[in-house]
Amino acid sequence: MSENNRLPKFPDSYIGDKAKEYNNSKWMERNQKKTTLLCIQYLYDTKLDLLSTQDILEDKEYIILDLGCGTGFSSEVLAESGFRVIGVDMLKDMLYKAKIKAKDYSNYNNVHYILADINYLPLKENSIDHIISVSAYNFIVSEKRELGDKLKTLNNVATTIYKILKQAGRAVIEFYPKDEKELELFTSSFKKNNFNGFIVKSNLKQKSGQQFLLLKKK
Ligand SMILES: C[S@@+](CC[C@H](N)C(=O)[O-])C[C@H]1O[C@@H](n2cnc3c(N)ncnc32)[C@H](O)[C@@H]1O
Repeated sequence: MSENNRLPKFPDSYIGDKAKEYNNSKWMERNQKKTTLLCIQYLYDTKLDLLSTQDILEDKEYIILDLGCGTGFSSEVLAESGFRVIGVDMLKDMLYKAKIKAKDYSNYNNVHYILADINYLPLKENSIDHIISVSAYNFIVSEKRELGDKLKTLNNVATTIYKILKQAGRAVIEFYPKDEKELELFTSSFKKNNFNGFIVKSNLKQKSGQQFLLLKKK
C-alpha cells in the first residue's frame, strides 16, 4: 500500500529513487511493521490450531520466510520477535537496502537475504517452518494478462510453498487483490495445493483492498 492510497506498480514503484523514497518513508515503515505484527498474531491464530490435530507450536526458534521482503521492514520485526528470517526479493534496489540495515541489528546472524524471484524459490523441500508475505504477493501475477497464465503462476508458487514448508507449516499472506474474482484465484490456488485456511479482511464490507490469507498445510 502507498501513503496516498494508490496501489503501487511493480517494478516501477521499487526501483531507483522510488526504492530510496520507499525506504526513507516513516509512514511506510510504520505501516509495514504494524501489518507484520498482525501477521505474526495471525500465524498463531487459535482457529488455525483447530484445522488439524498434530501441530502444537513449540517454544523454539522458528525459521520464517519473508516473501517479497523489500527493504526489510517486515524482516526486522520478525527478527526482533525471535524468528530466524530468510528474506527474498527480486529487486536489488530494495534488497540491498535491507542487507545494509541488517548490519545494525543486534541479532544480525539470524537474518539472511536472498536475491530471488518468488516464482523460482531457491530453497530446499521441508526446510521452512513459516512464511509471511506483506504487500508483495499480488505482484506475482501483475505481468500476466491471460487468466490461464495467472492460474499457472499461482499454482506453481503454491506448489513450491507447500514443498518447502515443514509438516503443519503455516503461512500468512497479506495482499491486495483487485477484486473478489482475483481473491478467489489466489485462495483456490492454495486450496488445490493441500492448504487449509481462511481469509481475514481488514474491513468486512470491502470487496477489494487489504486481505490476509491464513494458511496451514493439511
Ligand atoms: C511493498 S514492497 C515490500 C514490503 C516488505 N514487507 C517490506 O517490509 O519492505 C513489495 C516487494 O515485493 C517485491 N516483489 C514483487 N514481486 C516479486 C517477486 N516475484 N519475487 C520477489 N519479490 C517480489 C518487490 O520487489 C518489492 O520489494
